[in-house]
Amino acid sequence: MYVPLLQRLKVPLPSAAKPVAKCSRLAVACANRLFESAHDRECFLEALTIPPAYAATVLWCREPTSSLPFEPLPPLPWQPPWVSRFAPGSRTGQHPLHEAGAYYCLDSSSVFAAVPLLTLPQEPSLVIDVCAAPGGKSLFAWRSLHPHYLLCNETIGKRVGMLIGNLKRCRVHPVGVTSWDTEVLAAEFQGTADVVIVDAPCSGQSLLAKGQKADGCFHPVTIRHNQRRQKRILAAAATLVRPGGWLLYSTCTFSQDENEGVATWLMATFPHLIPQKVPVLAPYQSHLAAFPCYRLWPQQGEGAGAFTVLWQHQGLGESRPIPDLGNRWRWRSTSQPR
Ligand SMILES: C[S@@+](CC[C@H](N)C(=O)[O-])C[C@H]1O[C@@H](n2cnc3c(N)ncnc32)[C@H](O)[C@@H]1O
Repeated sequence: MYVPLLQRLKVPLPSAAKPVAKCSRLAVACANRLFESAHDRECFLEALTIPPAYAATVLWCREPTSSLPFEPLPPLPWQPPWVSRFAPGSRTGQHPLHEAGAYYCLDSSSVFAAVPLLTLPQEPSLVIDVCAAPGGKSLFAWRSLHPHYLLCNETIGKRVGMLIGNLKRCRVHPVGVTSWDTEVLAAEFQGTADVVIVDAPCSGQSLLAKGQKADGCFHPVTIRHNQRRQKRILAAAATLVRPGGWLLYSTCTFSQDENEGVATWLMATFPHLIPQKVPVLAPYQSHLAAFPCYRLWPQQGEGAGAFTVLWQHQGLGESRPIPDLGNRWRWRSTSQPR
């Protein structure tokens, strides 16, 4: 149980700790690696074992026509104007405007992870979201950048339906959906994309701060598996970026072996990828890296947790023309949005 374990490991108990939740030895070891100060470790573990109530967050797909009957919360410094936060527990997903596609519900951490996109020039020719389902980052990219074309890829076939459902409901246009392995995607679209988004599958440790289950999320085998998978996805995704274009990598986990570890590996492998500063996120600079990359911690109260880093491709060369996929799309929008 939580209390005896923390005592055994000489981690002082969180002030408001109730002996209700389990905190594994691996979680404590992770906290010990992440934070030097005992106070930071306590606060982190407390947020994972006694999950705080986070705001209900929505991304407006178009200008709101009417307001929502929920208690609004003040905007966070990094929150774009077309994102709103409401008191925890607000049932934003059950309002008719949600069904009508006026907005998309997501966690604030998901917004945080995509904020670096706000620093990029508008109206890029092609944005590719490599790990797109259920669609939060794609919606963010579409809303913030107004790309000429948005390609949403989701490798796992059974998750494609929910991605297409969300794109249809929110009337995203123009957009196409593929369901390919990242290496197949890279072979087709190499050197074509202005912006590539890799919101990678990860060990998912922040799910605990949402009160959800994430079995084995601190286990070294889980972390190694995700680290390898992220390297493979990112290596292929990096080749999609045209010279001068950008690559965003984000996760919803805390492991340093994923996140900063994978980012460091990527920069050693692709030295033309230069990490970019995101001024509005400066207070969130990861203390675990000497290059610009940003972390939202669950104990900050702004969301369950995220890691994000943006690179620019500073190599030379020409962009390649965007290929015509003909009928090889899983789905694509054909009409203008209403
Ligand atoms: C963190 S989720 C993406 C969330 C999404 N970007 C959003 O904001 O709504 C990671 C996604 O990667 C997909 N995925 C799993 N294994 C993959 C792989 N080997 N290659 C590419 N994507 C993978 C998962 O199915 C999942 O949909």
